[in-house]
Amino acid sequence: MPCGMTAPSRTLPARILVVFGTRPEAIKLFPVIHALKADPRFECVVCVSAQHRQMLDQVLEIAGIVPDHDLDVMQPDQTLDALTANLLTGLGKVMDTARPDRVIVQGDTATAMAGALAAYYRKLPVDHVEAGLRSGNIHHPWPEEVNRKIIGGMASLHFAPTETARNALVKENVDPARVHVTGNTVIDALHWVTAEIGHEPSLAAGLAELEARFAGKRIIGVTSHRRENFGEGMEQIATAIRRIAERSDTAVIFPVHLNPNVRKVMNERLSGLDNVALIEPLDYPHFARLLAIAEIMLTDSGGVQEEAPALGKPVLVMRETTERPEGVAAGTAKLVGTSAKTIVSEISTLLDDKEAYEAMARAHNPFGDGQTSRRIVELLADEVRHQA
Ligand code: UD1
Ligand code: UDP
Repeated sequence: MPCGMTAPSRTLPARILVVFGTRPEAIKLFPVIHALKADPRFECVVCVSAQHRQMLDQVLEIAGIVPDHDLDVMQPDQTLDALTANLLTGLGKVMDTARPDRVIVQGDTATAMAGALAAYYRKLPVDHVEAGLRSGNIHHPWPEEVNRKIIGGMASLHFAPTETARNALVKENVDPARVHVTGNTVIDALHWVTAEIGHEPSLAAGLAELEARFAGKRIIGVTSHRRENFGEGMEQIATAIRRIAERSDTAVIFPVHLNPNVRKVMNERLSGLDNVALIEPLDYPHFARLLAIAEIMLTDSGGVQEEAPALGKPVLVMRETTERPEGVAAGTAKLVGTSAKTIVSEISTLLDDKEAYEAMARAHNPFGDGQTSRRIVELLADEVRHQA
């Protein structure tokens, strides 16, 4: 369908094109895809940009999703502009071929933003999962804060995880009737993977060797990948980890993101230390296992800020601001920035002060009850029915 034309009107089942490209989008969308595929009111077409390759494929495999379209766009150390240009043209072509009634995107990545824009250029309604997250600072997280705002300006339905996210959208003059508080699908994903491990424990057994090596030590789980932390931020994070690992009672397990800007620094600074395991990105069941055995999570990730509080794990967030203030408000997450001195001091407090630890280690789950995908599918069905 050429640009500028509206989508063909079609009776049920409605054809929904789900577009994503990175690990966190895949984790947060597989529950929606499972729900859509199980529902005869919908025909679910899956398009991956493969903005990530190996880290995306890890999720697709575990969730049993075979994409209908795969753009395979990832390039080593890709730039934002080249990536975005490829995404926009590639996703537009898929939309012209697949001729969906609606398009779903998730979160704040380049794929989500370009997917929404390509849909908008075709006058296709685009529905936004995890809408309304705002840090209030366009440089933190960068470029995600602006990606979210761009998508929010075009979306038809906004699936906000919390009231805070809903209020942020309403403040930006989004029609309140189009915003629905649904919870975050990451909790659906966490429930799903926990149940899978319950049925098949071998799915998460691959950490056994490390668990034996670090038996008796207090485990700190680390993830880091934010673009705004490249350079000095990553150096500081590495310095902090080196210092923490000097403690004989502590061990760090760090699945290192495949971004070369992360790997170079971490490999150079942290390889060969007795108390540090630099490992390849974990598939989702193994990451769930890491969350279970860790005493503390140290991260700059978005998703981990949502998962760790749900499991009662204190999470120290290596950022200046967060678009997920709910964990901080509840006292289960703390913003510590990227200064090595502050990170070491905050970790030491949690390790040495039982009361401080207990105050943070409360299971708290502001992000959903595991029923978010079901809600989203019902809202989509209502929308499609009203438009028929
Ligand atoms: C992207 C998202 C970010 C999200 C993060 C999740 C944007 C602008 N950024 O950042 O919002 O939080 O994913 O992890 O959309 N690489 C591989 N294999 C992989 C994945 C990445 O080799 O499976 C390497 C490649 O060299 C690639 C680089 O990492 O060029 C960067 O990937 P990219 O998706 O551009 O950025 P992320 O930092 O992963
Ligand atoms: N995750 C994973 N394996 C890892 C590290 C993280 O499966 O080795 C999962 C984690 O559980 C969370 C998601 O990946 O659901 C977060 O992805 P990432 O930190 O890459 O992106 P962000 O959430 O910051 O956008």
